[in-house]
Amino acid sequence: MNRYKIEGGYPLRGKTEVCGAKNAALPILAATIINGRKSIIHNCPDLSDITSIIEILKYLGCKVERRGKDVTVDSSTFISRTIPHFAMKQTRSSTIFAGALLARNGYAFIPGSGGCHIGARPIDLHLKGFKALGADITFQPDGIVCRAKHLRACRIELDFPSVGATENLMIASSLTPATTIITNAAMEPEIVNLAQYLRSVGAHIKGDGTSEIHIKGTLSPKDAEVTVIPDRIVASTYASAVASAGGSVEICGISPGLLSPFLAVMRRMGMSINCTKNGFTICKNSGLVNLPYVCTGPYPLFPTDCQPMLVAAMTTAYGFGAVREKIFENRFGHCSRLNDMGANVTVRGRTALIRGVPKLKGANVDACDLRCGAALTVAALGAGGTTYISNTHYIDRGYENLVSELAKIGAKAERID
Ligand code: EPZ
Repeated sequence: MNRYKIEGGYPLRGKTEVCGAKNAALPILAATIINGRKSIIHNCPDLSDITSIIEILKYLGCKVERRGKDVTVDSSTFISRTIPHFAMKQTRSSTIFAGALLARNGYAFIPGSGGCHIGARPIDLHLKGFKALGADITFQPDGIVCRAKHLRACRIELDFPSVGATENLMIASSLTPATTIITNAAMEPEIVNLAQYLRSVGAHIKGDGTSEIHIKGTLSPKDAEVTVIPDRIVASTYASAVASAGGSVEICGISPGLLSPFLAVMRRMGMSINCTKNGFTICKNSGLVNLPYVCTGPYPLFPTDCQPMLVAAMTTAYGFGAVREKIFENRFGHCSRLNDMGANVTVRGRTALIRGVPKLKGANVDACDLRCGAALTVAALGAGGTTYISNTHYIDRGYENLVSELAKIGAKAERID
C-alpha cells in the first residue's frame, strides 16, 4: 500500500488533531540512553522514523514499551554496540544517537551517512563540538569514531545554529558536572522540549530557546518524564491543505504561536486564521495572492520544512512569487513534480520562482522525500481530477495516517496498492 489516490476539488471542513512532533521525539528518545534508568515520554507520535529509533534503542539493550501515545524506555540494561548500518540510512540515527552514546559510554561510531535527497547533511559542527568537549575524533574509511574517557565542560560557538548539533551537544554535556555553554545555538521549540527532558534527568539548563544555552550536567541522573510538543510542521501541512483545497478547518492540539512564522505568510496571502480554545481555525474565503518573496531560515524565521508545502499552495495563488531555500541545498524536488501537475515553477539555484495558475490537474507523481510527499498531497487536494502519489513511505516517516485524517475532513483521499 505505497500509493495515495487523491481526487481533488473538495473543500476541507471539520477538525483535525495534531500529533506529537517527530523532530522533538527523535532526540528525546535518543537521549533516554543517558540516565541508565526509566524515561516516560508522553504524546510520542506513531511514525516510521520513531519506530526505527525504538528498534535501535532495543538493539542497544534498552527495554522499550509503547502504550498508545506513551513510550517508556528503561536504559538500565543498555549495552554499547555500533548502530547497524541498515538503521542509519532512514533516520540518520547514528548522528542522532552520537551525543547520547558519548555521554553514556564514551564511544560513538558514525558510519558515513552520505546525506540524503535534500542535501549533503554534513556533521562537522557536531564533531567540532564533541572535540571541544574533549572527545577524540578519528576518521576511518567506513565512518567516524568519537571517543572520550571523560567529557569536560567548555564553551562551544556554533558556526551555524544547527538543530542537530545543538541537540547532540546538549545531550552530550548533560552528565558533565560543570557548565557547558553553547553559543549561536538553534532556538527551535524542539530544542526547548529536549531541554525539558534533560532537566527531568537532572541537568540544570538555562537559555534553551535562545541562542545561548548553559548546561550543567548531573552525576546522578534520575528517572525522567516529558511530554512531546505538538508538531508545528504537521499543523502547517494541514493549513497548506486548506490553502490549496479551500474550506475551513480547526487544527486542534497546538497553539498557533508554535507556527507563527508560517501562519504570518498564510495571512499575508489571504487566509483567515482565528485562535480557538483548542488551537486555531484556518479558512479560505477567497482566492489567494502570492507574496513576492519568502525566505527560509533558522527559527524564528520561516521553517525550511514548510517550504515545499508553501510552494504547493502558491502554485494556484494569484500572481508571481519567489521562495528562497537558505537551509538545504537541494530541497526543490517537489517543483518539477508540481509542474507535472500543471504548475509554473522555475528553480534558479536556491530560489523557486512561482507564477500562479488557475488550477492544477491530476497526475501520476512520486514523492522524493518526506516534505515533497506532503507538498504533492497538498497540491493534489486542490487539483482538478485524480492524482496518484507513489513512494508514500517517505510521508509515513513524518505523518500519522495523513490520507485517512484528510478523508475525515472531506478529502477524497485513500491509500491504495
Ligand atoms: C533538523 O535537521 C530536522 N530534523 C530537519 O527536519 C529540519 O529541516 C532541520 O533541523 C532544520 O530545521 C530533525 O530534527 C530530525 P541542521 P538537522 O543541523 O539537525 C548544515 C524534516 O523534514 N549543517 O539544523 O540535520 C546543514 O547542511 C527534517 O522533518 C552543517 O553544515 O538540521 C543544513 O544546511 C528535514 N554542519 C543546515 O546546517 C553540521 O554539522 C541545517 O541543518 C550540521 C548542519
